[in-house]
Amino acid sequence: MNISRSFIVMGSAYLLVGIVLGSYMGGSGDHSLAPVHAHINLLGFTLMTVFGIGYRMIPGLAEGTLPKVHFWLHQIGALGLLVGLFLMMSGRVDGATIGPVFPLLEVAILVGALLWLIGVVRRA
Ligand code: HEM
Ligand code: HEM
Repeated sequence: MNISRSFIVMGSAYLLVGIVLGSYMGGSGDHSLAPVHAHINLLGFTLMTVFGIGYRMIPGLAEGTLPKVHFWLHQIGALGLLVGLFLMMSGRVDGATIGPVFPLLEVAILVGALLWLIGVVRRA
């Protein structure tokens, strides 16, 4: 598995989704999903692209198991959080029902970010 490529490809896919949602908001005048759009672009496209470039540019950073764990934690956390936020903010699922899942997904992203920190402290 090529961590750098995987992050960059996934980030680019999020960019398409973010642009589609942004264009929908611009066209419809309904900006109620702006935080979902913002985080699809930031947690999805921007952060994954930064990770992907980092794993490519910093020698040794992509080696070992930790980068793979980081990749999957970020994928699961970001997808779950963004889908959950979309369902909640569009009124499809009640906040009280889906709310308790968010901290688990946030911890997944946080632990992934911690692994990234450990990696850059060692290798950058
Ligand atoms: C064609 C592409 C895009 C369109 C049409 C678009 C459209 C929009 C619209 C209509 C809003 C709501 C503004 C408001 O309610 O004040 C918004 C908010 C936002 N967009 Fe985009 N956007 C696009 C691409 C991007 C990209 C690429 C990023 C980041 C990499 C981004 C980041 C944000 C952020 C952070 C907000 C929230 C701003 C705030 O709440 O103050 N957008 N966008
Ligand atoms: C687990 C990760 C994250 C969580 C739980 C989170 C949560 C939040 C929350 C609750 C808000 C306030 C939304 C509102 O007032 O409607 C917010 C706003 C914002 N966050 Fe995040 N965030 C995360 C990651 C990030 C990342 C990685 C970035 C940038 C790379 C980012 C950039 C922003 C920006 C620019 C805003 C203001 C835009 C807006 O109000 O829509 N966030 N975030």
